Amino acid sequence: MPGCQILRGQEKKRELVLVFGRTGVGKTLWTRLYARQKKRVYIYDPMDEYAEPDDAAYESDPRYVERLAAAAASELRTTLIIEEAGSVFRKGVATLPKVFQDLVFRGRHYAHSAVFVGQRPTSVPIDVRSQANRVVSFALHEGDDLDYLSDIYGRITAKKIALLPPLTCFDCLWGDTTTYSISSLVSQLREV
Ligand SMILES: Nc1ncnc2c1ncn2[C@@H]1O[C@H](COP(=O)(O)OP(=O)(O)O)[C@@H](O)[C@H]1O
Ligand SMILES: [Mg+2]
Repeated sequence: MPGCQILRGQEKKRELVLVFGRTGVGKTLWTRLYARQKKRVYIYDPMDEYAEPDDAAYESDPRYVERLAAAAASELRTTLIIEEAGSVFRKGVATLPKVFQDLVFRGRHYAHSAVFVGQRPTSVPIDVRSQANRVVSFALHEGDDLDYLSDIYGRITAKKIALLPPLTCFDCLWGDTTTYSISSLVSQLREV
């Protein structure tokens, strides 16, 4: 990545997060809570739903998603958020744009973190899914995705995903799954 020095050892830590769930279950609220804890945040926000962090770079025009990702990749220790991933990565298009390939496959050397938000696992390209180290699922009708969700959470937990109440998720971080509600945290967010 041009202009970026390579980080060593512990500094390489980064999170590649996937957030899934059907409409209105809390994906964007979860991601807003995540974003406000980070510095150097770049947000693709097509629905204008984010009010913070103040110093984040925001983009809502789909034509400039790759430019936003390139800006995130030009610095160390950044967090890129891609909302509505299903509309960014067209289904059936095999090749992931190069800037996202770099981020996914080489980003850990530069502490490039990213969050991809989509309604279901198939909204996110397989290359991105293969490198994720955190998977947060709110209620979704698991259907065709059950095999993928079972790989992440185990089959018994995955079967319960359709029954999760709103604002409640399964959060698998480095292989450990916890379940919690974000409802008490929502008051911390600014009105949009
Ligand atoms: N600031 C807020 N305070 C309380 N509830 C909210 C707020 N913003 C959205 N909601 C509600 O929380 C639910 C989850 O919203 P959201 O996170 O946008 O869902 P998703 O991104 O999964 O479609 C919705 O029912 C929405 O009406
Ligand atoms: Mg949303």
